[in-house]
Amino acid sequence: MDISLFLFVGFSCFLLINGNKVEDCDYLTDKTSLQSFHVLLQAEQPYRTAYHFQSPQNWLNDPNGPMYYKGVYHLFYQYNPNSAWFGDGMVWAHSASYDLINWFGLDHALVPSEPFDAISCWSGSATILPGDKPVILYTGIDANYNQVQNLANPKNESDPLLVEWVKYSRNPLMTPPDGVKGDNFRDPTTAWQGPDGTWKVVIGSYSNSQGMAILYQSQDFVHWTMHRDPLYSSSKTEMWECPDFFPVSINSTNGVDTSVENPSVRHVMKASFNSHDYYIVGTYVTEQERFLPDADFTGTSSDLRFDYGKFYASKSFFDGKKNRRILCAWVNESDSMEDDLKKGWSGLQSIPRQIWLDLNGKQLVQWPVEELNSLRDNEVYVYDKQLESGSVFEVSGITASQADIEIMFELPKLEEAEFIDTSLVDPQLICDKQDASVTGKFGPFGLLALATKDLTEQTAIFFRVFRDHKDYKVLMCSDQKRSSLRNELDKTTYGAFVDIDPQREMVSLRTLIDHSIIESFGGKGRSVITTRVYPKLAINDEAHLFAFNNGSLSVRVSRLNAWSMNKAQITAGGEPGTISEDFSRKK
Ligand SMILES: *[C@@H]1O[C@H](CO)[C@@H](O)[C@H](O)[C@H]1NC(C)=O
Ligand SMILES: *[C@@H]1O[C@H](CO)[C@@H](O)[C@H](O)[C@H]1NC(C)=O
Ligand SMILES: *[C@@H]1O[C@H](CO)[C@@H](O)[C@H](O)[C@H]1NC(C)=O
Ligand SMILES: *[C@@H]1O[C@H](CO)[C@@H](O)[C@H](O)[C@H]1NC(C)=O
Repeated sequence: MDISLFLFVGFSCFLLINGNKVEDCDYLTDKTSLQSFHVLLQAEQPYRTAYHFQSPQNWLNDPNGPMYYKGVYHLFYQYNPNSAWFGDGMVWAHSASYDLINWFGLDHALVPSEPFDAISCWSGSATILPGDKPVILYTGIDANYNQVQNLANPKNESDPLLVEWVKYSRNPLMTPPDGVKGDNFRDPTTAWQGPDGTWKVVIGSYSNSQGMAILYQSQDFVHWTMHRDPLYSSSKTEMWECPDFFPVSINSTNGVDTSVENPSVRHVMKASFNSHDYYIVGTYVTEQERFLPDADFTGTSSDLRFDYGKFYASKSFFDGKKNRRILCAWVNESDSMEDDLKKGWSGLQSIPRQIWLDLNGKQLVQWPVEELNSLRDNEVYVYDKQLESGSVFEVSGITASQADIEIMFELPKLEEAEFIDTSLVDPQLICDKQDASVTGKFGPFGLLALATKDLTEQTAIFFRVFRDHKDYKVLMCSDQKRSSLRNELDKTTYGAFVDIDPQREMVSLRTLIDHSIIESFGGKGRSVITTRVYPKLAINDEAHLFAFNNGSLSVRVSRLNAWSMNKAQITAGGEPGTISEDFSRKK
């Protein structure tokens, strides 16, 4: 049975079963029937996820203002209450959690209502001011479609759920400066405080053919002055969306609060453009208000990214509960806009990731938050298994459509790896040309996720190991070409080099599979690739998981551990008074 809910706001709303209109939406008058209706809808929807954050219906995009406050994690996100597509009238939807995995929906935090956000409440960040006072800075789309920066405060600071927010009456605080177009001025970061108490914040922008982070300063968080120069700008970039600027410890996986500035930290500048989240690492010279990166963006495939697949508009925050920095991002769909209407929804949030600076100082490392492991169930494992050339074996005994897998490969006779001059090649292009079906020496070897038994459908996440001039290069790929028998899907192949030395370290992969999303962490989180796939046959119980080696040299699975993943509890919000009973019980 093919059930779809079509919602055309201001037009009509009806339920389709096998393409026939059977009910109008007044069938769904009270909330209870609406909720049970969604349960039915989900059961019929193979692409809804079980442990990734998504809303029951409609469009979502950027995570906004994530924070930890009085024992509660908060996630706000861009949400269109009217449609499965992006549009005017975007709000800040709001969910809360005790563990970053199970979420409870609350009332929308910010909805368009005033001249300074008449059209939409767009992205922004939370800052916790001294005295434990959280505030939000966000971009309002005003009645003239200009982008302006606004402030909102909690109505009741002793409410750990921060349900109600009050917009500051003298908004906007910042309007597009001279030389910046009205639609090139958005997404304030979390603010930080200098040693003299001055507050600083950056806004994403584009001017004079340079993407940039425009810097503002304030003594009281209300009156803001633009600094003469941007904190950073680069001609190699486009309009910066959702900039993020934060310190990372040079020698610890612990996170540090956003205002920390001392010799034991370096700074990261992230910007979202060209559908990817790019970053540079460098030194923040507070006195001069300058960020000096170790190297500028290059505008080439060698620029560092948080994720080499789908992962955009990310935002990080310092989690004082566990002393770590956490990264969240929007992962969009790869099917068509018509499919979004049929599904009734579009967009997911990535699993929150802990993020820190690699000991080599060159790049960041990411790993799913440890709380995710609480959903693991039903472990199966394989130790010390030789994978001869051309072999495939099934990892059975788990729910392959909803799983977490860790696998480590040993490569004997590494010196036989084929030669490649990696200075000349774009990793994504090699992955595309030498996809999983193209035999090499070391590799392709890895996993076949969301696969049919006969492998007609499969998403291959795999490695190839090459010899470079004097060392080895590990390439990680995610090949979606055979991910679905359905056409009209974006099946782009993704690829990245993984900065590990296979002479010293095994080639490892952790992959999170959740119905239509696959997040893969290569080399213990040094390179990450997230993809969206929509198998036609390999859904739910029809999905299988395999490990394979299609290289001409054999490799050894030193260890494979796989778990079925339980469903996370994620309940809807958006209606007044929807603080669910489950939520109060868990407290
Ligand atoms: C503020 O929140 C606290 C904690 O939830 C609650 O006890 C108190 O009644 C609230 N105050 C108001 C004015 O709503
Ligand atoms: C980290 O580096 C800082 C600055 O060099 C140093 O003071 C600190 O002791 C180091 N911490 C560890 C755990 O090595
Ligand atoms: C969203 O998905 C489409 C289709 O796969 C892709 O072309 C686009 O780059 C994506 N955008 C972002 C911001 O991820
Ligand atoms: C392995 O290689 C063979 C021969 O090229 C090919 O038919 C098969 O599809 C490959 N396996 C995978 C998983 O790509």
